[in-house]
Amino acid sequence: MQTRTIGTTTVSAIGLGGMQLSIEGRPEDRGRAVATVHAALDAGITLIDTADAYHLHADEVGHNEVLIAQALATYGGDTTDVLVATKGGHLRPGDGSWTLDGSPQHLREACDASLKRLGVDAIGLYQFHRPDPKVDYADSIGAIAELLDAGKIRMAGISNASVAQIRQAQEILDGRLVSVQNQFSSTFRSSEVELRLCNELGLAFLPWAPLGGNSGAGVLGSRHAAFAEVAEGHGVSTQQVTLAWMLALSPVVIPIPGSSRPETIRDSAAGADLTLTAAEVETLSAA
Ligand SMILES: NC(=O)c1ccc[n+]([C@@H]2O[C@H](COP(=O)([O-])OP(=O)(O)OC[C@H]3O[C@@H](n4cnc5c(N)ncnc54)[C@H](OP(=O)(O)O)[C@@H]3O)[C@@H](O)[C@H]2O)c1
Repeated sequence: MQTRTIGTTTVSAIGLGGMQLSIEGRPEDRGRAVATVHAALDAGITLIDTADAYHLHADEVGHNEVLIAQALATYGGDTTDVLVATKGGHLRPGDGSWTLDGSPQHLREACDASLKRLGVDAIGLYQFHRPDPKVDYADSIGAIAELLDAGKIRMAGISNASVAQIRQAQEILDGRLVSVQNQFSSTFRSSEVELRLCNELGLAFLPWAPLGGNSGAGVLGSRHAAFAEVAEGHGVSTQQVTLAWMLALSPVVIPIPGSSRPETIRDSAAGADLTLTAAEVETLSAA
């Protein structure tokens, strides 16, 4: 598979988003969840995105991290090149809501807990999940800088960040910020401004919900005729065209489509090797 870089680490141009394996609607069969991760690895995916908050019930924080660690441990092949990117700063109290705690103390504790669940000495990429309006952004990012200094995380990223926050984080981290994970899809394009900044600064840009999320992924073709037409011309899925279009926008883009079935991640992974013409990319960007 085509590769890209996060910091100095080479990863597959398309990653696997783990969230759908652990939240509402997740597979009841754990075997299917593990098989989905294994299918991603078989397809050449070497980036897996997770978070401690990817769980359903209050007493199962880190459900997705445990699942990913288990899937890696039971995979028959070599997983040494796989980058597991996790996040801290979001919480799920178990009533379906998502709450925030960006305090340095919480981030320190969350990172320690993620280290244990992932069974590693240092987390490959640790991302501050979402700014917490109750906590000064500088304090949250300062905690991430301390985790880097302590060697608990190898690389630092941020998520759901504005242009100003990207610049601020880069300054606080002393140039050590490597990635930004923001929502971006054919439907949701307002983060193009952050994508452009990442391109300028050489930061990896990881579009989340790149297919429009759980509810949007299945209806991509009916929502976006131009994408469906290009897909028909290439004889591939609209989802593949969407991912290939994103990859064509900038070499810093690394989409992380979510999957809860081997079939969907196999199809999405193939999007990394689909080449669109410049005219097609232009048409899709304008659509
Ligand atoms: N940083 C943040 O705040 C944040 C927020 C949300 C998500 N994320 C991350 O971003 C990842 C992706 O977002 P997402 O999972 O919400 O949305 P998404 O990737 O846009 O859509 C996921 C859905 O797409 C379907 N799908 C995937 N590939 C497909 C294909 N080739 N053909 C048809 N359907 C396909 C999957 O169906 P099946 O379930 O049937 O496989 C899944 O339900 C998450 O898993 C998570 O890691 C981050």
